[in-house]
Amino acid sequence: MTAPLIDPFQRPISYLRVSVTDRCDFRCLYCMAEQMTFLPKADLLTLDELDRLCSSFVDLGVKKLRITGGEPLVRRNIMSFFRAMSRHLDSGRLEELTLTTNGSQLAKYADDLAACGVRRINVSLDTLDATKFTHITRWGRLEQVLEGIAAAKAAGMRVKINTVALKGFNEDELFTLADWCAREGHDLTFIEVMPMGDMEGRLDQYWPLADLRARLAERFTLHPLTERTGGPARYVRVGETMQKIGFITPLTHNFCESCNRVRLTCTGELYLCLGQEDRADLRAVLRDSDDEDVLRAAIRDAITRKPKGHDFDYGRQTVAGQMPRHMSHTGG
Ligand code: GTP
Ligand code: 5AD
Ligand code: SF4
Repeated sequence: MTAPLIDPFQRPISYLRVSVTDRCDFRCLYCMAEQMTFLPKADLLTLDELDRLCSSFVDLGVKKLRITGGEPLVRRNIMSFFRAMSRHLDSGRLEELTLTTNGSQLAKYADDLAACGVRRINVSLDTLDATKFTHITRWGRLEQVLEGIAAAKAAGMRVKINTVALKGFNEDELFTLADWCAREGHDLTFIEVMPMGDMEGRLDQYWPLADLRARLAERFTLHPLTERTGGPARYVRVGETMQKIGFITPLTHNFCESCNRVRLTCTGELYLCLGQEDRADLRAVLRDSDDEDVLRAAIRDAITRKPKGHDFDYGRQTVAGQMPRHMSHTGG
């Protein structure tokens, strides 16, 4: 009953991304609508239910747990959940407990996160210009996020900055961002914008990372690295600054063949792929039965339905594989 999870394409599933809330204190243009209808509280898994589910995945061989949202740090009492999960780090069964955050609450929580064994966090940051930052996040304040990132660094956590590459928005900041990360000692990963949620203007914003990378190579020597962080990024080391820069290319280079992850939403739906709709309702199973074997069997059954990959494509000025679902629903 506790044999590792293997999907139909022989990919071991060792990475669970868990969205603990659909809410967020920002409204990034490519992620959410300004007026979002959030889920009623009763639909959410309680923190105890999240604990039970995540622990089941750990029993089934999951080694990496990434907490996402919405914005995970706006969920009430979320530190008690991190503390609960840290027991799996202590037992050695879980290798990494981490999160992806917009950074707004990091100043408050960085020390607690570090105390829970979080060693590395990913922070979304698309621009270092305060006006542009408020434009892209609609509600965010750059200063607050920079303070949060500084707090994370001071608490001893490694920081990876996630930047969605947006044509006409942050093209001119490529080197500003790279230089800032080099100075601060942060890793940096660029992401191709995916066709999810409201698509207005998305096609015009799409900036293929091959172009971005060629621009970087005009000034920097890029040495490809074989090392991985468990996610889809492929990295280079910059000869001049020794910093690490990653590229996440869902559109131009499909990385699905090495996919190792599934996504749990805050209502207990297990999405088998970010770019497909198929999912399993684990909340119903969880609320129906206390039997761990029943829950594990439901997880195993879901994994047998994991698809080969997404169908995102912006070919010939049209968009294929689009997901009406907002990114915040599955946490990226
Ligand atoms: P590391 O642990 O640092 O490797 O992180 P990660 O890249 O797995 O996680 P992060 O939350 O930083 O994800 C960065 C971006 O990659 C997000 O925009 C995700 O949507 C995207 N991403 C992560 N996994 C997948 C995936 O399986 N498919 C697609 N299409 N995009 C993904
Ligand atoms: N395409 C690519 N990345 C996205 N993110 C949110 N929406 C999109 C999108 N449509 C990113 C955020 C964050 C991560 C969780 O997902 O910037 O870094
Ligand atoms: Fe919030 Fe992240 Fe979505 Fe922005 S990308 S609205 S910070 S969940």
